[in-house]
Amino acid sequence: DKGNHRHFMEKEIHEQPEVISHTLAHYVDFANVTVKNFESPIDFARIDRLSISACGTAYLAGLIGKYWFERYARLPVDIDIASEFRYREMPISKNSAAMFVSQSGETADTLASLRYCKNEGVPIASIVNVRDSTIARESNGIFPTLAGPEIGVASTKAFTCQLSIFASLAVRAGLDRGTLTKDQASTLIRELSEVPRLVREASKLEDKIEKIARKLSEVRHVLYLGRDTSYPLAMEGALKLKEISYIHAEGYAAGELKHGPIALIDKHMPVIVIAPYDRIFEKTVSNMQEVAARGGQIILITDEEGASRASLGDIETIIMPKVPEFVTPIVYALPIQLLAYHTAVAMGTDVDQPRNLAKSVTVE
Ligand code: M6R
Repeated sequence: DKGNHRHFMEKEIHEQPEVISHTLAHYVDFANVTVKNFESPIDFARIDRLSISACGTAYLAGLIGKYWFERYARLPVDIDIASEFRYREMPISKNSAAMFVSQSGETADTLASLRYCKNEGVPIASIVNVRDSTIARESNGIFPTLAGPEIGVASTKAFTCQLSIFASLAVRAGLDRGTLTKDQASTLIRELSEVPRLVREASKLEDKIEKIARKLSEVRHVLYLGRDTSYPLAMEGALKLKEISYIHAEGYAAGELKHGPIALIDKHMPVIVIAPYDRIFEKTVSNMQEVAARGGQIILITDEEGASRASLGDIETIIMPKVPEFVTPIVYALPIQLLAYHTAVAMGTDVDQPRNLAKSVTVE
């Protein structure tokens, strides 16, 4: 039931404050500064490496998970696209563990990667949205996302719930490994608790985003840029846009611009930049200047501080609420989802059932 929404995707985007809040409430003990319901087969204190594999949007959630595990728990993470991992015959160290991420829990390549790791004898934990799925059954333990059924082919609420779990696990791993003090963990946990409110605030930007989307629906190519955790998010923004609007979009690390993609920039190729004001903001500004100098149109997703410091003249800006750096990717998922959604609506595509795509990819 779509309620009073035009599409399941729209409904699922707007459910995010609630389902993220459920997921966080399940895993985070806000009062005692710890992560609960942690029946993990993985002992984060004892492993020296973690391997994460998944496909599509779930892979991009894993990539953000890597940034968090490495930053807060000092745990090195290998992240792979499952269709590559399954045939790569990667040597798996005995002191490692494997995680898999899958909304449906049925993705063929992810399942095959899981079986490879199982054969190697390392502990396996999966983040799944469907608790009685094959991936859930074959894992040693699961971290369910409490997103509720996701019907739209384009993944939205499952993604932000996957991120919520990775964020919680990174804090737990940081505590277990002694890389976070109780005080540091308590700050991160407080920041996590603000996410549902910030996501709700971000969704208030919908009218502005819809206007930008109408213009975006007239172009054929889009470049998405970001640094740090905004880089996987840039790839997620590009994936969402191509899936439902059929606009050719590429997500790049902003620092890669001058290593190739800058050759594409002209007035017909808008560049969407995800750049909250943070310690590397200035680096991204210089990338934007390079784009502007070549006549590229910029759509900047940032906060007040970023908008005032960007000083790039007449560019489109989506001004987000101020978000703590840790939880930025969860909150900044909103504008990129809404941008893809409204662009597709403006183009009149079949948003919930885009051409050539299936919700669950059970063949390789
Ligand atoms: O069910 P899964 O999470 O394993 O699915 C993985 C991908 O097929 C999925 O995320 C796909 O990329 C989505 N259509 C993205 O919106």
